[in-house]
Formats: sequence, structure tokens, C-alpha cells
Amino acid sequence: MNVLGIETTCDETAIAIVKDGKKILSNKIASQADLHAIYGGVFPELACRRHIDVILPLIDDALQEANLTSNEIDLIAVAHGPGLMGALLIGLTTAKTLSMAWNKPLIGVNHIEAHLYASMMDHDPILPAIGLVLSGGHTTLLEIEALGKYKKLGATVDDAIGECFDKVARMLSLPYPGGPEIEKLALSGNPHAYSLKAGQVKGRPLDFSFSGLKTKVLYTLKEDNINHADLAASFQHAAFSDIVKKTKLAAKPGQAIYLGGGVTASRYLRKLFEKENVYFPGPDLSTDNAAMIAGLGYHVFKAKGPDRLDLEALPRIPF
Ligand code: KG4
Ligand code: ZN
Repeated sequence: MNVLGIETTCDETAIAIVKDGKKILSNKIASQADLHAIYGGVFPELACRRHIDVILPLIDDALQEANLTSNEIDLIAVAHGPGLMGALLIGLTTAKTLSMAWNKPLIGVNHIEAHLYASMMDHDPILPAIGLVLSGGHTTLLEIEALGKYKKLGATVDDAIGECFDKVARMLSLPYPGGPEIEKLALSGNPHAYSLKAGQVKGRPLDFSFSGLKTKVLYTLKEDNINHADLAASFQHAAFSDIVKKTKLAAKPGQAIYLGGGVTASRYLRKLFEKENVYFPGPDLSTDNAAMIAGLGYHVFKAKGPDRLDLEALPRIPF
């Protein structure tokens, strides 16, 4: 079954074609990072306009790369939340229109659930497992009982991890998105130069707190002779070692751990986690993409059949 995936939840327009939930035939991503860089974050109205400009040509490119015609697409999967309302509506409207014009079924996919699926795409997942979503909007530890069946174990009580990286990058005068910039700067820094720690939530050992860590970076920067590379390295180490510690606390011995979300692109995080049963998304599947949407869409469709054409955009869909 060839699934066309559509992703427009935030600032990437992405289109992919995936066969039977696993085999990626095409994975196209039009990043808008350049457009938003001068604002230090995503400018929603501009994001929507760019989605409109690029989405149809990107669908043509994806079909061409997969060497398929629209006739050979069997299902249209679209991320219908969470995300920016305007941006979601563009993907959803495109998906519904193609569903009608091509006479193909439609399925809505949860963007966060798809991030987790990205690390399961290349094999049959070993379940029950621990899941960890690390993105611009989420820091969530879960137990994955089956695809579609999750139990939340812990989450951030304040900033999401990616958001925290973006804010700290801004303090260090680095461009948006900040995560990759901090990682680059930290390469020449000492991760133990400054004593920084992520927060602990009383009585909830699997919850996260990063706002205190962020504030500590801000105050440290006010001191004299602060080495930015050392500070970036120390911040990165403090944030990620806390995440690794809590994830290992949640996992039973030998239990598989699946990671998803833009922050899992970090090579430093991958190194800290180095262990056989920890699964990271493959190349180009950490940050927002449509292969994970098409991949998970296949399984959701198999489990519950198609969605109706009145499928809603859900900016705050729970997960
Ligand atoms: O999942 P994603 O692409 O979009 C959301 O759904 O939020 O995640 C984007 C986030 C941004 O905050 C970005 O700074 C962060 O992922 N990120 C990183 C790295 N690469 C991307 N954070 C830390 N280290 C990285 N190497
Ligand atoms: Zn995302």
C-alpha cells in the first residue's frame, strides 16, 4: 500500500511516499528556517504562506522521485495536530482535496505519535517499550504498549527541551533553530566547565524541569569572562544527562527505548545514550518530516479504517 504523507504542523512543509508503513520511496522536506531566522522563532502567518507556495510542487516532486502516478497512491495521511492552527489547515485542506480529486481514502495522524514511530520504521518494534519524545513542544516519557496505546510516565512541568535549547541559543546570540547551533558551539567547549543542573520535581522522579537551568545560563552570562563554548557544552550536558538518567530509570532491564522528535538529531545525545536497545530515528527522520506521517498513517488506517472528510485540525491534540 503506497501512502502519501503530508506534514505542515509548524515550519517545515514535508511530503513523503511510504510503502506498507516501512519502505520510504520519497521523503521531501522544504524547510522554512531561513524565513523565520530573523524573528528568532516561527512567525505563524509567514509559515502558512510558505506552506501554500510550496506544497503542490512538493507533491509533484515526491511522486516523480517515487516514480509513481497519483493513481498508484492508495491512502493520504496527514498530520492534523498538534501544531499551528493555520499551518495545520493548509495540510489538511490539501489532503482532503486530493482525497476527493483522486478518490483515495484519508487518514489523520498525531504528529507527536508519528515522531515516536520514526524510530520504529526500519524494524518490527519490540513492545512493550519505553518511548521518549524530545521536540520543540514536547518532553514526554511514555510506556508504549502497542502502536496507538501509550501510558504517560512523565513530562516537562515547564519548558520543552527543544524550546529550552532555542531560548538558550538566543541568549548566546545564536540563530534559530538553536539546538544544532548549541551542539556546534559546544564541540569546542568543556561540558564540565560550569556547574549546571536540570530541575527535579518533588515526588515525581520521571518529570522534567528546564526553566531553572535556562535561568542559570542567563545569570551565568551576566558574569565576567564567560566562555560561550564552555557554557553551551555545560548546558547541553546538564540537560541531556538528566534526560538519559530519567529514561533509564523508567526502563526495565533490557527494555527497548524508542526516541523521537527534532532534538534526537543531536549527536551528543546519541553518544550519551549509546546502548544496544536504544533506537533513534534514521537519517532525516528526527526533525519534522512526512515519512513518519505516511508510515504511521498506514497502521492507523489498518486499525480503524479511513477518517471522514470533516476531519478536524487539532492544534492541542493530547498525547
Ligand atoms: O520535532 P521538531 O522538528 O519540531 C517540533 O515538533 O517541535 O523539533 C524542533 C526542535 C527545535 O527546538 C530545535 O532546536 C531542536 O528540535 N533540535 C535540537 C537539535 N536539532 C534540532 N536540539 C538540540 N540539539 C540538536 N542537535
Ligand atoms: Zn515535530
